[in-house]
Amino acid sequence: MTQTPSQILDRVWVLEMVRVTEAAAIAAAKLVGRGNEKEADSAAVEAMRDALNKLPFNGTVVIGEGERDEAPMLYIGEKVGAGEGPDIDIALDPLEGTTLTAKASPNALAVLAIAEKGNLLNAPDVYMDKLAIGPGYEEGLVDLDFGPAENVRRFAAAKGVKPEEVMVCVLDRPRHEALIRELREVGCGIKLIPDGDVAGVMAVSDPDETNVDMYMGSGGAPEGVLAAAALRCIGGQIQGRLIFRNEDEKERARRVGITDFNRKYSLTELAAGDVIFAATGVTDGALLEGVKRKPGGWFTTESLVMRASSGTVRYVYGEHRRKAL
Ligand code: FBP
Repeated sequence: MTQTPSQILDRVWVLEMVRVTEAAAIAAAKLVGRGNEKEADSAAVEAMRDALNKLPFNGTVVIGEGERDEAPMLYIGEKVGAGEGPDIDIALDPLEGTTLTAKASPNALAVLAIAEKGNLLNAPDVYMDKLAIGPGYEEGLVDLDFGPAENVRRFAAAKGVKPEEVMVCVLDRPRHEALIRELREVGCGIKLIPDGDVAGVMAVSDPDETNVDMYMGSGGAPEGVLAAAALRCIGGQIQGRLIFRNEDEKERARRVGITDFNRKYSLTELAAGDVIFAATGVTDGALLEGVKRKPGGWFTTESLVMRASSGTVRYVYGEHRRKAL
């Protein structure tokens, strides 16, 4: 008997995904503030891979740590899982915020999204221009082709506020100098973040809580797919366009089947179907608390797990006491 998509992505996976991001976050947390991005990332990658390989599914990493020749583990195309059960595509970032972790700065996360095979954009590890707004607005209200100023004006009009009352989140990077200048001319607020645009995009889904209305600017394409998976669960719009800086990056895109280099991807072209998204805090942040080490040598975690088909958003507090027993 063929299974429906929601049967394939069974409810049981919701908790299983949290176990995976918890494992990665705890591993990375041991290296918070050690000034070593690579070591923290490797620890998270290894822990996430071990946790994934215990699960009874046929998983394929479609968004991962890079391509096979540059990532020893969790590379794009890598098969994970115990090799039985449903075919699942996985987008992952075992440590979203390697520099944040190395510097013991807020907002580092372990992040994962799964979907039925074929539902997550198979994006190369290049930059993506991103534009996101929260739920409740007409589709197409904003568009990468309108430009930043026009997008703020259109958004403000739809929200019924002045452009000066809109807050736009942007990664603090020299490449965003022109974008920031244009936004300053419109007069909106700009929330500059040092890293972590998955959480930056997610912030638009709840502006009353986060005070962020829009997300703009370029960041990793893998993070764009992960952020889209999150918005599928919590609501909001995102548009992304891959940025190719050279022929090598175009070649990487061709290898995953991308031939239209100017294409704008909508929310559901980035992440479709019944998506499950999970994240665990590594360091304390606006979204989640980080891993805490307890006196007996055990850990607490805070995670978020959400499912597109049911619209459920769960916060999971974990006590990992094995060390204490
Ligand atoms: P890492 O965890 O890989 O360091 O990514 C952090 C991040 O800030 C992402 O959230 C963002 O998409 C990307 O880096 C931006 O890239 P860059 O640092 O090159 O501007």
